[in-house]
Amino acid sequence: MALKMRYLELNRKIRDVRMLAIQGIAEAGSGHPGASFSAAEIMGVLYFHKMKNRPTDPFWEERDYFINSKAHSAPGFYAVLATAGYIDTKEIKTLRKLGSRLQGHPVRYSERQKDHSFPGIEYSGGSEGIGLSVSIGIALAKKRDGQKNRVYTLIGDGESNEGQIWEAAMAASKFRLDNLVAILDRNKIQQDGFTEEIMPLDPVRDKWAAFNWNVVEVNGHKIEQIIDALSRIEKVEDKPSIIIANTTKGKGIKHMANTPQWHGKAPPKKHVPILLEELQSEILIAPSIIAGEPENYEEKVRRAERAGADFIHLDIMDGKFVPSTSFFADTIKHLRKISSIPFDAHLMIEKPVNHIQEYIDAGCDIVTVHVEACKESEFLEINKMLLNAGISPGIAINPATQFPGWILEHLENIDIMIIMSVNPGFAGQKFIPETLDKMAEIVKTLKSNNYKGFIEADGGIDATTLQQVFDAGARIMVAGNAVYGSPDINSNIIQLRHKANVAIETKLLELATINDMRSDWIKSRKNLLIPLAKELGIEEDLHAIK
Ligand code: DX5
Ligand code: ZN
Repeated sequence: MALKMRYLELNRKIRDVRMLAIQGIAEAGSGHPGASFSAAEIMGVLYFHKMKNRPTDPFWEERDYFINSKAHSAPGFYAVLATAGYIDTKEIKTLRKLGSRLQGHPVRYSERQKDHSFPGIEYSGGSEGIGLSVSIGIALAKKRDGQKNRVYTLIGDGESNEGQIWEAAMAASKFRLDNLVAILDRNKIQQDGFTEEIMPLDPVRDKWAAFNWNVVEVNGHKIEQIIDALSRIEKVEDKPSIIIANTTKGKGIKHMANTPQWHGKAPPKKHVPILLEELQSEILIAPSIIAGEPENYEEKVRRAERAGADFIHLDIMDGKFVPSTSFFADTIKHLRKISSIPFDAHLMIEKPVNHIQEYIDAGCDIVTVHVEACKESEFLEINKMLLNAGISPGIAINPATQFPGWILEHLENIDIMIIMSVNPGFAGQKFIPETLDKMAEIVKTLKSNNYKGFIEADGGIDATTLQQVFDAGARIMVAGNAVYGSPDINSNIIQLRHKANVAIETKLLELATINDMRSDWIKSRKNLLIPLAKELGIEEDLHAIK
């Protein structure tokens, strides 16, 4: 299914959430990065996409409720509320300070608590295991009053040690609360250890099913899977639902990921600029299915998805704008049925304005048109249609085309810019090195004009050129031949991912060196840098640390 939510904008907002949360925690010198990061996509999808809410009218009667039962994820929760517009993002810097409205654990807003809370916080957390029971009260009351409000409750796997969770599980199914959705942040770490060692929770799916809940399992960092699950749940009647969201504690900052010591610890303040850079350096890999053998597209989508691709890049070629012909909207419509992975459609066609509706209807999540194929007025028409349909709009530019100034007028409505590094038309062409300077130049112009979207590199991206375009500013990598040009698609994607890691670590290391904390930085992520030591040229640094 198509996501209908401007996928790339949502992705960016969730990145902003992590950036804000870590700044707040570092400023406070305490707080919980682990859970803030494991639940970032869950809370982001709820607030930025799913829930009926009005940040400027937080008490709106028709709103959906979010109960943050695992309340130590507070920094992430406040960052979501700030990004949604409930408070100013600057307030995050007061986290955990005396007199702040952003306490270590959130306080439900009321007139009496107005100095310790703000409108939008529905539940006082801290003591674990209680939020689900409170949610049952709200959901039951709304149901009895014939109201349509839904209640979403975030619970933790450590929190699931509390007996009250299971009492609530019984009660919710007794009352047939189909307006209640629990989301389990299944990061498998609690306090200072792993849940399965401290108090085993598996088989968690069977447990909830035995309590007569509708159970859905997702990768809790894949926006599209969370959205898909939430909309399927809406159709379930007569029972409550739980989403088991498999997550990684500390996801987003590599040395914090999946390590119990980052459950509740602040990073040193001096690391913040590097951590922010890391969060902005995430590389997304988008295999282009036109490459390789002209075989079964379905199989190509499935295999790329299984290997952990982030998007599928769909090259639409009409034999007129470019010399060759590939496939059209009907193929995308068919592929949409087999996967929820974001579809990134690149339209290399004449007069895209006449065809855009077909691609909207086909279920694309991102649609990019060529600057050479439309006038500004046509682009605006296309842009409006895409935004109305909740699709991320993009613009692509060929190697020989000069960057047109009018684009700068519309940056707010552009989520992705493809800077071609081959002349479009065929997969497997040689990367044109001159496009690197052009990309760096365009990125500079865009940055000075406050562009918040993504740069996508397309054409001849492989293990070598990936790092070059990353350095020039690209964060989304289209890869045709590098993924499908040889039979082992899985290894090909793993290799690109590895090169992406090297590119990111190199950049962070440079920043650490400039900021005079090279060995300190290397020490903080020693374990994950050891396997990359040779490629990063840090063998001696590592030796010196030992
Ligand atoms: C070029 C297309 C590309 C390209 C990707 O017309 O837009 O997406 O074919 O394939 P590789 O990575 O093989 O250049
Ligand atoms: Zn393309």
